[in-house]
Amino acid sequence: MTDHILIERPETAPYVQVIRFNRPEKKNAITRAMYQTMTDALRAAGETSDIRVTAFLGSEGCFSAGNDLADFLAFATSGSMGREVLDFLGALATAKKPVVSGVDGLAIGIGATIHLHCDLTIASDRSLFKTPFVDLALVPEAASSLIAPRLMGHQRAFALLALGEGFSAAEAKDAGLIWKVTTPEALEAETMSLAAMLAAKPPEALRIARNLMRGSTEHVLARIDEEARYFAAQLKSAEARAAFEAFMKR
Ligand code: COA
Repeated sequence: MTDHILIERPETAPYVQVIRFNRPEKKNAITRAMYQTMTDALRAAGETSDIRVTAFLGSEGCFSAGNDLADFLAFATSGSMGREVLDFLGALATAKKPVVSGVDGLAIGIGATIHLHCDLTIASDRSLFKTPFVDLALVPEAASSLIAPRLMGHQRAFALLALGEGFSAAEAKDAGLIWKVTTPEALEAETMSLAAMLAAKPPEALRIARNLMRGSTEHVLARIDEEARYFAAQLKSAEARAAFEAFMKR
């Protein structure tokens, strides 16, 4: 358990579970313990009739700056990625119930690719989606190399995932990465209202509709594994270590 992730059950939104990033002093960078807590929450949602929708939220001005770079540096040294990230990606990709997200501000690395697995995402107009994988000598993760080109076309996906171009909220909406853009002030209320609307739908019909639209997760899970093999190899590379050390020494 870590209090860097809060699991909330708002009284105003019955059947909704909120997974909130709560490490603002580090821009909500995600540690192994945070992945574990999120995995547990996603799995719990699948097991209980008391949760019908999960909503990801961050803090003011920051959704998440992605994987903790100190953890990446530790992985680079130890040679092992640990199982927490992959467990989380598996739980996210196979979540049995709808997942929504509300983004205000920075959404970097997995803080951006997480939305490829969400059913509905709202972002504030000051949000920025960016995946500097290649600049860190890493490769795309979370099956983003599969889902993003399908969703937005090769060139836009390449700009996001390989060029490391930041997408504004409007550009992310245009690319299909998110559904709606709103103001920072309205973001949380709109996200929770959306989650509550979904939670009020007949659960079985919603489950079937969602599964029909998402299709089989087989290729997604296979791509997560394939990316992870390259990712783990790159983590150990001298070019990646130099990039992490440069960030830590700023
Ligand atoms: N891992 C670990 N720590 C991180 C982090 C990350 N991914 N992102 C930010 N932090 C930490 C910073 O080290 C800093 O800690 P400190 O106050 O102890 O020095 C704190 O969060 C605030 O970040 P800072 O860089 O000062 O804020 P900023 O507003 O100037 O810049 C970012 C914000 C997100 C643009 C910048 O921090 C950044 O580029 N982070 C790395 C993002 C990244 O590459 N993620 C991995 C993608 S695969």
